[in-house]
Amino acid sequence: MRHANPVSNRSALRRHSLPISLLTMLHLASLAVLGLAGSESRADVDLPSKFSNQSSVRNTRHNLTQRQAAGGPSGVNMDPYRNDYAEVCVYCHTPHGANTNVGAPLWNRNIPSTTYTVYSSNSLTQSISQPGAASLVCLSCHDGQQAVDAIMNMPGSGRYSSAPNTGFLNTWSNPSGLGPFAHAGLKDGECLACHASNAGIVGTGAADFTLAAIGTDLRDDHPVGVTFPTTNGDGTDWKTPGGSFVVGGRTTKYYDENSNGRMDKGEIRLYDSGSGPSVECGSCHDPHGVATSGSLFNATFLRKPNAASAVCLTCHSK
Ligand code: HEC
Ligand code: HEC
Ligand code: HEC
Ligand code: HEC
Ligand code: HEC
Repeated sequence: MRHANPVSNRSALRRHSLPISLLTMLHLASLAVLGLAGSESRADVDLPSKFSNQSSVRNTRHNLTQRQAAGGPSGVNMDPYRNDYAEVCVYCHTPHGANTNVGAPLWNRNIPSTTYTVYSSNSLTQSISQPGAASLVCLSCHDGQQAVDAIMNMPGSGRYSSAPNTGFLNTWSNPSGLGPFAHAGLKDGECLACHASNAGIVGTGAADFTLAAIGTDLRDDHPVGVTFPTTNGDGTDWKTPGGSFVVGGRTTKYYDENSNGRMDKGEIRLYDSGSGPSVECGSCHDPHGVATSGSLFNATFLRKPNAASAVCLTCHSK
């Protein structure tokens, strides 16, 4: 969340004037020809979306093929800017040749070494480290440092690279026949050349993704890579995560709200990347979407709705 601690004003910082790149101009021309008009209908998600946002990650913005089984956005608009692997999971996971350096299942993305500017404040009681694995997986797209289609193992055999670069990514042909000429990332001048309020085409279905382009400065985001205070429970500022899930000597703590003894996807959790239970992106978000009640996923991939600050009050007792 950027949400509570505006150390700096992200929007003001980010909305500096973007040069209209060749990329945008080419595309604007084709949009004009296609005569695209917006038709957004979902009100439950933070931004208008053509994805139905229910039942599967296939029907969410994390489907980077940009094609939903029934309806949804027109992926062809995106084909020039990222490889369409025609498989939803492969932008993040691979059955073979996975990146074992990162603590996420069968991970298909390189995690370049990046030094993040971390949150700081005088009132913190815990020290803040660099983001742990359960944040780095998200930042591998959301920090904008590499293209969203930069995967290590492309579908088909013999298409592996431990550090995918443009040459490697260019060996892919889109099933639509329209080859990508750019492998864009979530940053200014790339995906945000169109997906920003000042790009001129927001409203035609190219939503404003400025807030999702987190960058490498995490000072205006809820701290991640921060361990949970060991003094918690009644009379403290913290609620006690009652559940424990142990794998390979690492203990993930979770708030077992339905007391079933299982770490359910709707439950807020604290990951152990080596220094004890910590807050990471995955503490509050599930990248596949979670439906708490009814069939629509919670907005912004949250594990539970944040109505009445319910996400915050899971850990904090303020
Ligand atoms: C040249 C302009 C342009 C660029 C660059 C661009 N997009 Fe888009 N994007 C669009 C347009 C136009 C739509 C709307 C398509 C439609 O309504 O069918 C769209 C739709 C989307 C959607 C679906 C939105 C929704 O929920 O309905 C996603 C997700 C998306 N783009 C991601 C990306 C990503 C990731 C990148 C960078 C790799 C990117 N786009 C680059 C123009 C662009
Ligand atoms: C945008 C990235 C992304 C996409 C797309 C994605 N996943 Fe995941 N997946 C993740 C991350 C990140 C984790 C680790 C979650 C955590 O840390 O708890 C994960 C974890 C999992 C797990 C382990 C259980 C869990 O939920 O933690 C399974 C199983 C899984 N994914 C299956 C899939 C399948 C099947 C698809 C395609 C239909 C898919 N994923 C698409 C990012 C993704
Ligand atoms: C493969 C690249 C990729 C990975 C990995 C990834 N994301 Fe995303 N994510 C995107 C793109 C592209 C969008 C579309 C931009 C948007 O919706 O604002 C997006 C959108 C989002 C949104 C906004 C959804 C909305 O309704 O607007 C959230 C929240 C989010 N991601 C969280 C996460 C978290 C948390 C993780 C890790 C657990 C993660 N993402 C991993 C690419 C990725
Ligand atoms: C402590 C809980 C928490 C953590 C940790 C967290 N988020 Fe969020 N995030 C939220 C909430 C709640 C929202 C809903 C919007 C709001 O309240 O401002 C959100 C919104 C978002 C959005 C949508 C854009 C926006 O700002 O509204 C993106 C993208 C996102 N988070 C990505 C991430 C990533 C990536 C990480 C890790 C670096 C992360 N989040 C860590 C709680 C969290
Ligand atoms: C998974 C547990 C968890 C959740 C959920 C959570 N927080 Fe936190 N929060 C923490 C931890 C741990 C710290 C670091 C505390 C420390 O070092 O004293 C923290 C720090 C903070 C701080 C900084 C305090 C300071 O002294 O600078 C603020 C403000 C904050 N959280 C607000 C929120 C809000 C608002 C939400 C809901 C959107 C939220 N938190 C959700 C665990 C959580």
